[in-house]
Amino acid sequence: MKMSVVGRVGAAVLAVAACGMLLASCSTSEKKPADGEKKTVVGFSQIGAESDWRKANTESIKAEAEKRGIDLRFADAQQKQENQIKAIRAFIRQKVDVIAFSPVVESGWEPVLQDAKKAGIPVILTDRAVDVSDPSLFETFIGSDFVEEGRRSAIWLAKKMNGKANIAELVGTPGSAPANDRAKGFREVIEKDYPEMKIIKSQTGDFTRAKGKEVMEAFLKSPEGKDINALYAHNDDMAIGAIQAIEEAGLKPGKDIVIVSIDGVKRAFEAIAEGKLNCTVECNPLLGPQLFDAVAKLVAGEKLPKRIVIEEGVFDETTAPKELPNRKY
Ligand code: AHR
Repeated sequence: MKMSVVGRVGAAVLAVAACGMLLASCSTSEKKPADGEKKTVVGFSQIGAESDWRKANTESIKAEAEKRGIDLRFADAQQKQENQIKAIRAFIRQKVDVIAFSPVVESGWEPVLQDAKKAGIPVILTDRAVDVSDPSLFETFIGSDFVEEGRRSAIWLAKKMNGKANIAELVGTPGSAPANDRAKGFREVIEKDYPEMKIIKSQTGDFTRAKGKEVMEAFLKSPEGKDINALYAHNDDMAIGAIQAIEEAGLKPGKDIVIVSIDGVKRAFEAIAEGKLNCTVECNPLLGPQLFDAVAKLVAGEKLPKRIVIEEGVFDETTAPKELPNRKY
């Protein structure tokens, strides 16, 4: 079918307008580079794949990089700081535009961050913080407030237990920011306001299901085991492992032992629906969009706020069922 000149001009105008609308609907930072245009190169050092939270975090970062046409150099450190340091050194040699990483532990980063600074490569921290004396060694830290998550867990548990409990604590990876801060926030609340909330057992379960189960088994077999009536797990995976140990010991998780954990992964919502977990305090792993917004701003020469905090909620038997169908991770 032939089109008149007016028709062709009209169609062309409409096409241009549609393109304009399409471009306007995604912000400059979300645009993929055009053919031949230089891609932004980002080196990301991930801790590993220890939990459902971490897997969702990795997925969010990879998917967002793909969506924006970022050249992402991704390295999995398998829980080892030395592997993260090696990866960061490799990113420096490759002269990437931005380095981002989730530090497995808080201390020991100064030398490698100084090398990045000398090379003029900006560094973004995601999820976990580092303990350094010179704050100019990183541009921003995007992540949750772990101390607040510890406080929220304690407040919820104290209310549920009417201010009186013998608590077993499954701690995260030793030396990591979430393990340090979640322990701190929880203690801050019970020591100040609830003298009858006692932590009678505390040990690391390294943020994994297998370790959570193993340590909970040992807690239950210990002389104090029969007194435990509450569990505070620094993440959902350890709580899920502990639930198995509690059932194998002939007890009812969620009833004989009230359980609060942190993350808010789908499996935790399912465990709440089954009556085996009582509460999960949210820690959002979907950091990809914020990370690459920050990268785009750095590349455009903009200054970032030193801290970008993620907003999060608390879900228990009363609120989790409504949220379960919306959970993406
Ligand atoms: O740093 C965030 C913590 O790391 C999550 O709570 C935990 O599940 C993960 O492995």
